[in-house]
Amino acid sequence: MGRRTFIAGNWKMNKTIAEAIALVRELRSAVSMVRDRVEIAVAPPFTALHPVAKALEDSNVILAAQNCHAEASGAFTGEVAAPMLKEVGCSYVILGHSERRQLLGETDAGVSRKVAAVLKAGMLPIVCVGETLAEREANQTLSVVEAQVKGCLSGFGKEEGARFVVAYEPVWAIGTGKTATSRQAQEVHAHVRELLRGLWGREAAEAVRIQYGGSVKADNAAELLGQPDIDGALVGGASLKVADFAAIVKAKG
Ligand code: 13P
Repeated sequence: MGRRTFIAGNWKMNKTIAEAIALVRELRSAVSMVRDRVEIAVAPPFTALHPVAKALEDSNVILAAQNCHAEASGAFTGEVAAPMLKEVGCSYVILGHSERRQLLGETDAGVSRKVAAVLKAGMLPIVCVGETLAEREANQTLSVVEAQVKGCLSGFGKEEGARFVVAYEPVWAIGTGKTATSRQAQEVHAHVRELLRGLWGREAAEAVRIQYGGSVKADNAAELLGQPDIDGALVGGASLKVADFAAIVKAKG
């Protein structure tokens, strides 16, 4: 199969520039030994992207952003465009995070436009999907995730699609300390891969990395990453501490 494990830290709205630089200086040496086995990214807030990019030069940690606008420039006060993120050194952009869907009205159609902008700028998307607790309890998990995957990704072809990253983040597991069991997560991941197979065929679907996110910690990472369709993690809280994030990076033996 050969999908390279991808561990990304989503810092959300945390860290000053000084704190961000201190964190990545320590992180780059803590994870320097895993060079080929694991792809590692951090997603600082916009204000810290440039200094963090400098602090990560010649390291094996790459840069991601947490969002972007769908247009490449223009009168969009307060927004940041994909080419700007490319210029500052980002390789990936996290799109459609549930916090943005819930708090800021982000939609699948909007995410899809942002995916196109990210590709056009020469980066790759990490597209977040996931059900709420109410949806899980109503047995709607697979149908909710299916609508999100199709709504965000069906406009793209298999050549580009094979390089996308999808993050399954059950909303009820984010920041709550409640992780999906490896079985619950694997079930959804396998379903996502099945959907991708429908969209892009077997070969492309097998190439897509599907990350799990939601209270990933050093002590549950190995179990989650041991599942056949869990190819990485999108880590929130635990990515803010070097020791915890480095332990997750090294979890898959
Ligand atoms: P936590 O790891 O803090 O639960 O956050 C997960 C997340 O939202 C990553 O995008």
